Amino acid sequence: MNSIVDSRTPSAVDAAERYTAHNYHPLPVVITEADGCWVTDVDGRRYLDFLSGYSALNFGHRHPALIAAAHAQLDRLTLTSRAFIHDQFAEFCQRLAALTGQDLVLPMNTGAEAVETAIKVARKWGYQVKGVPDGQAKIIVAADNFHGRTTTIISFSTDEDARADFGPYTPGFEIVAYGDLEALAEAIDDYTVAVLLEPIQGEAGVLVPPDGYLSGVRALCSSRNVLFLADEIQSGLARTGRTFAVDHEDVKPDMHIMGKALGGGIVPVSAVAASREVLGVLKPGQHGSTFGGNPLSCAVGIEVIKLLETGEYQQRSAQLGAMMHEQLRALIGRGVTAVRGRGLWAGVDIDPGVMTGRQASEKLMGRGMLAKDTHGTTIRLAPPLVIEEDEITWAVRQLAEVIGAA
Ligand SMILES: Cc1ncc(COP(=O)(O)O)c(C=O)c1O
Repeated sequence: MNSIVDSRTPSAVDAAERYTAHNYHPLPVVITEADGCWVTDVDGRRYLDFLSGYSALNFGHRHPALIAAAHAQLDRLTLTSRAFIHDQFAEFCQRLAALTGQDLVLPMNTGAEAVETAIKVARKWGYQVKGVPDGQAKIIVAADNFHGRTTTIISFSTDEDARADFGPYTPGFEIVAYGDLEALAEAIDDYTVAVLLEPIQGEAGVLVPPDGYLSGVRALCSSRNVLFLADEIQSGLARTGRTFAVDHEDVKPDMHIMGKALGGGIVPVSAVAASREVLGVLKPGQHGSTFGGNPLSCAVGIEVIKLLETGEYQQRSAQLGAMMHEQLRALIGRGVTAVRGRGLWAGVDIDPGVMTGRQASEKLMGRGMLAKDTHGTTIRLAPPLVIEEDEITWAVRQLAEVIGAA
């Protein structure tokens, strides 16, 4: 390990600040290697990763099966565009359709693109199948949502940082309170084509809706002929202890929107999955992406789905998550005001009288644990699902010591 005097971190942080737009406020750590739950910085310090790339690293850093699939594919074929068909495409789509219980899959790259795909498909379904008058389609979303950063998506954000000065905004969205079924029922009208929701709101601070909300949304959407679009980009793929967060209420949405962990922490892979009636509205030329569904993405995605098919990661998240939540709840009243979440995913509210979420994250970093604050007082904990019991216990102890609870 380098001494403080010849540390490489300050100059590497400076260089990154000097040459990039300041659209993020990262912790001052410069990572150079990673394996499983652990990352190493340019000075040789090791940290336990409790963010997992916002759940893009559910299977840990460089999972051997995923790395092997990527290597093998790199040596054969990386890109064709969708102008041609490649030999990894059908298997990826078929396996993802089976995992979601849907008929058809449309792969894209980033989460925001998958959400854009969902919006476009829902509108087209509204005009062509439901019979909404042209240009009138309405999509209902929740307050405090986070669905990505495109101009359309930020148009219905309630976060001023995300939205201000990026107008003019895309019309056609109505915002209702998250978790409020009555407000949703009132907002649905004849022009409503879809309800777009995160089954657990991640960026808002890991907000879990009241029990019965997701099944209530399902029932409302079915009875009013409205599509339920579930943004499982952060909550899905084993993060909450089930394959999808909607599974906790045995709900099947009309569309699963996926991203992040679908690319195994190696490549950006996102997708939507829906019935033939819904996704079948798209015809050649109406939507697409040069890189969406490329061979490398599909090869890695196939291995991701195989990992999920074992059920091991869902089980680990459920069991270890219960343990993590129990340990975190013991901190309530001792520097922590609330703990929310499901599986290996928690939003921990730090008592503002003790310190900010940022200060807590920086102190944790100093102790070898990487977590990230959100909305001032909350820190999000989302370790890779390959984490071990003793590592969770160690991490919660670091948090307890940082906030003075230990
Ligand atoms: C629920 C949800 N939807 C969409 C996105 C956007 O994904 P991406 O950053 O890959 O565009 C995110 C990213 O945090 C997310 O959490």
